[in-house]
Amino acid sequence: MSPKPTSLFACQACGATSSKWLGRCPECGEWNSYVEEARHTVAPAAAGPSRARPLVDVAAAPGRRVETGLPGFDRVLGGGLVAGSVVLVGGEPGIGKSTLLLQAAHAIAPGSRSVLYVAAEESADQVRLRADRLAVGHERLLVLSETDVERIVAEAVAEAPGAIVVDSIQAVRHSALSSAPGTVSQVRESAAALVRYAKDHAVPVLLVGHVTKDGSLAGPKSLEHLVDAVIAIDGDRGSARRILRATKNRFGPVDEIAIYEMTAGGLAEVPNASAAFLSERRSGLPGSAVTATREGTRSLLSEVQALVGPSIAGSPRRVAIGVDAGRLSLLLAVLERAGVSLSSREVFVSCAGGLEISEPAADLAIVAALLSSARGRALPESAVFFGEIGLLGEVRRVPAADSRLREAAALGFGRVYLPSENARDIAVSASVSIRPVERVTDLVAELERAPSVETGSALTASRSGAGPTGFAG
Ligand code: TYD
Ligand code: MG
Repeated sequence: MSPKPTSLFACQACGATSSKWLGRCPECGEWNSYVEEARHTVAPAAAGPSRARPLVDVAAAPGRRVETGLPGFDRVLGGGLVAGSVVLVGGEPGIGKSTLLLQAAHAIAPGSRSVLYVAAEESADQVRLRADRLAVGHERLLVLSETDVERIVAEAVAEAPGAIVVDSIQAVRHSALSSAPGTVSQVRESAAALVRYAKDHAVPVLLVGHVTKDGSLAGPKSLEHLVDAVIAIDGDRGSARRILRATKNRFGPVDEIAIYEMTAGGLAEVPNASAAFLSERRSGLPGSAVTATREGTRSLLSEVQALVGPSIAGSPRRVAIGVDAGRLSLLLAVLERAGVSLSSREVFVSCAGGLEISEPAADLAIVAALLSSARGRALPESAVFFGEIGLLGEVRRVPAADSRLREAAALGFGRVYLPSENARDIAVSASVSIRPVERVTDLVAELERAPSVETGSALTASRSGAGPTGFAG
């Protein structure tokens, strides 16, 4: 009796599988996400049995790195592409993934045997059009318009390139599977074949992955586990700025970012990221505070904005964009204790320029922006704020205060509010006035005293409740 051929159902949201159709995925809770797929018949690559060996005999270096020729991209990768590694570059459609990887492929080509750019969703002429626009096109930059992963691998084996770009993984399919390209099992199986190729031939592979509306990569978990690094390209619609960051990296840090601008000739790295993030800042407005955060090995200045206003109806809203919502609640509770009650007011906090701040060092700036908006008075224009705030209202030490201070000084800021504990170790600088802050109440008192810029707008002042109720609460 031969076993009956069976089919498999896979959740298109998380990749979970089941032998029968399910209305709701028990893994991720998604409804109607199960799709029937042929049970996969792809045999894993044959490899000899592994033997145990002394750890000290194992090579420590992650291997040779291939530089992409784009310094920001290399920095985010942790110093270029590791031979045999697979990097997933994710982002929304139209954000610039193909542009970035074509630029990288062009820059890698001269120092390499060749670079294979696999166009799975475009024809070779479409790639050529983009290349002309970017003024790239090295003779060792090869283009292959193909969607079948086995044919892609066969071509790669024949060409033996120094790196491969597959644009995009959602358009690639494995002929052993009957499901459509883009389904979880196709994406996973195709990626697995490319991972095997990368490891077997020690060639770095860059995969383009489209991100769905809710921000996850299609076939998310399964794909992220397969690859060595995940690089995200983010950017606001309508803005040319693009932020590159690693959300996973087996061979490097995950906190490094690079800032690019989409120009008529492709992506151009923005050399002074702080200046870029502050370029849209309007001076003299209440609710704006500048902070200095650490992004990997560098300090970055950016603007935190707060809007505190009357509550229209029901329970007042608390909205945090680019800032952790839990963190905002904590800071509001600390402010309440410090005598500034915002509990009946609506509070919005946003990090300008599409940046996401996860560092508690921005706490002091968030609080300063909240105080400024609540009072309807702008903060001193030349001030920068950084420091973590504890539950008891204490302002806690943050790492790399020196570097943050230098970045502030370099951009012409003359006054820095920072944790007292950090202030002690700082060598006195002539150009910057250092304002140590011990407790949140000190900042409240200091801003009350500080000669700040009046808004000049009666509307802003009365709406945001300036005057007696503003600070004392
Ligand atoms: P693209 O790299 O095709 O995005 P993705 O691969 O992520 O879908 O880039 C799409 C946008 O970038 C498109 O709207 C045109 C614009 N663009 C430029 O502004 N300058 C350029 O040099 C190129 C190639 C594209
Ligand atoms: Mg594209």
